[in-house]
Amino acid sequence: MTPDFAPDSPDALPLWAVWKGDPLAEQAGPWPAASGFSGKLGEICLLPDASGGLSGALLGLGDRAQASRHRFAMAHAAGLPKGLWRPFLPDDLDPDEAALALLLGQYRFTRYKGTPHDGARFICPQGADAHRIAAQAAGEFLTRDLINTPANDMGPDALEAAARALAGEAGASVAVTTGGDLLDANLPMIHAVGRAAEQAPRLIDIRLGDAGPRLTIVGKGVCFDTGGLDIKPSASMLLMKKDMGGAATALGLLKMLALTGAADRMRIRVLLPVVENSVAGNAFRPGDVLTSRKGLTVEVNNTDAEGRLILADALTLGAEESPDLMISLATLTGAARVALGPDLPPFYCDDDATADALSRAAMAARDPLWRMPFWDGYESQIEPPIADLDNAPSGGMAGSITAALFLRRFAQGAGRYVHMDIYGWQPVLAPGRPKGGLGQGARAILAALPRILA
Ligand code: BES
Ligand code: MN
Ligand code: ZN
Repeated sequence: MTPDFAPDSPDALPLWAVWKGDPLAEQAGPWPAASGFSGKLGEICLLPDASGGLSGALLGLGDRAQASRHRFAMAHAAGLPKGLWRPFLPDDLDPDEAALALLLGQYRFTRYKGTPHDGARFICPQGADAHRIAAQAAGEFLTRDLINTPANDMGPDALEAAARALAGEAGASVAVTTGGDLLDANLPMIHAVGRAAEQAPRLIDIRLGDAGPRLTIVGKGVCFDTGGLDIKPSASMLLMKKDMGGAATALGLLKMLALTGAADRMRIRVLLPVVENSVAGNAFRPGDVLTSRKGLTVEVNNTDAEGRLILADALTLGAEESPDLMISLATLTGAARVALGPDLPPFYCDDDATADALSRAAMAARDPLWRMPFWDGYESQIEPPIADLDNAPSGGMAGSITAALFLRRFAQGAGRYVHMDIYGWQPVLAPGRPKGGLGQGARAILAALPRILA
């Protein structure tokens, strides 16, 4: 389903969004107060006309003082009766946030059950940028669909097909290196992690745009993470279809960039190392020492720290052409979620101006991120006695930071490097976010680009 606003029409019914306790639109008449409408979050009050038909509705946004807890309150409007609605917003509700919420509220994952949203449709609220918001929702829907589709239908073959389909739509070029060719192309760690799976490991390389600064996005594409031979316990494995959330978010971002014409201004490259981390006789083993594309040797102290291995080779490849900005998106560590929870992914960046602009843009785009440090003092933790690097330092302290430090070793050559350790999943229903796959970081990057990529 492609989310979009309805064209303007005189037949649209008015929808008044109101904060709890605020006076109601006069046109709504006495009915809302008489029927006990208070404006609490998600409360809907349908308004009758003189003949008993429908003349409009009120939607509660909840307590204004708690607005930052109720982001995307407008998404509740998806519960209105089928028909065409014209939203009227309070002055202090950001029209872009409301517009995005109206579209995100329509997301349904219907591949296996149910039907796409065919209820209420909305005219874009005044003051919102309809085209840009629809592009953001379209990218986010793609990301969610890719994450929600389980590994039996979203293995490396299917993820490659999805990447090719998007590239086709966007007019981008695609090159894919697969299986044994990864060794010839000197991407040995992607091969090592993915070789035990039935579907071959691969590196997907997408390019869009041919002038302007270079932006390279690298997304972790582990279609399923069993943990490999250091196998995960069942509770930890249950959600691991989402371990391609970085790749799914990178593709969602590419869709947003393509739909907003960003490729006219920059050279975009998306690199997706795509594998399944599986168990078989030819699986890579704990204790193996791998030689990376960069030449650094890596002792595998846990086959479950696979993401940083495949990303390392992709980052090395990306850095070789010295992009102005390189960004990795990855469901990389459980430690990131322990530190900040599922809704607030940490990001790392050594350049203060870039980091500040990204933090600000993330909050403004309602796609929050929180800066954490590439803490040099922990470098020694990723340096084992018998190889250059350790993929899984013992002790498990500062796990998201040590993973980020590992990646930074391979990103050198890029002008600036940003790494996001995302979760990629909404654990419980929230406005505009049903339980399931969730894009994180893409809208923040989109909003920040004008300031961080001149
Ligand atoms: N895909 C996981 C990280 C993950 C787990 C993200 C749960 C989100 C939720 C990653 O491949 C992994 O297993 N990381 C290990 C690293 C450890 C072995 C050093 C982790 O975080 O436990
Ligand atoms: Mn893992
Ligand atoms: Zn993983």
